[in-house]
Amino acid sequence: MNEDETIFEKFWEASSLDKFNEQQFSQKLSSYDSDDKELILEYPSEPIALPILKSRINKISKTRKSVRNFDNEELSLKELGLLLSSFKAWNGLEHRGYPSAGATYVTEIFCLAFNVEKYSGKIIYYDPEKHGSVIISDNGPSWDEASKSLNINVVGVPSLLIIFVTFPDRSTTKYGERGGRFALLEVGAALQQLSLQIAESSKLKGVAVGGMQDEVWKRILKLQTTNAHISLGYLVGK
Ligand SMILES: Cc1cc2nc3c(=O)[nH]c(=O)nc-3n(C[C@H](O)[C@H](O)[C@H](O)COP(=O)(O)O)c2cc1C
Repeated sequence: MNEDETIFEKFWEASSLDKFNEQQFSQKLSSYDSDDKELILEYPSEPIALPILKSRINKISKTRKSVRNFDNEELSLKELGLLLSSFKAWNGLEHRGYPSAGATYVTEIFCLAFNVEKYSGKIIYYDPEKHGSVIISDNGPSWDEASKSLNINVVGVPSLLIIFVTFPDRSTTKYGERGGRFALLEVGAALQQLSLQIAESSKLKGVAVGGMQDEVWKRILKLQTTNAHISLGYLVGK
């Protein structure tokens, strides 16, 4: 083992998913008893009611939800642009729609288009500065193939898989071990940006995929020789 390896890297390895431990992961999920889950803290005193004001964010947040059934309808180019604008560097690479610890921006976005105008079958890298797509492959896996390396049950066929890829070295170089936390917090912020974008559009829907087989996806995205970490997927469709 590399002596310089951070505990974050060890944690990442310990929580990685592959075809050998996927069944164990699924069993763990099915043996979980959700009746016992704690969703809120309880204090003896009643909470004091707060004013609730109308805001655009509240209006959108109210409609946000995960959806797991898709109609296999084509996403238009405009819809692809809208989804990816969630990650755009609006005011330079250090100022995007979501915050990042020390503007280290550890998150990179890749997409696998199943049914997208002009992009079906392609794998793309999103350039947040130019708001453009870089084509990584013209022969990405079909939904049938891709779903074998995703631990999720959906009905129908989604149109797009957005993949959040993390480069934690960008923040651990600056913050040491604590940079690992910051890296994952940033993925959460980027995820929320996408979630609200989808909630705001009347036609689009989707769901996060936590169970991606790390090494398979690194290979599909041609990132094997890099320190990319496959953090999360997000299926989008109509
Ligand atoms: C990190 C993360 C991973 C998730 N992974 C999955 C998943 O693998 N499969 C799934 O069906 N939903 C997944 N979800 C969606 C959650 O199940 C969903 O957000 C939660 O049940 C609340 O429901 P709502 O989003 O409709 O409000 C994930 C959400 C997050 C934030």
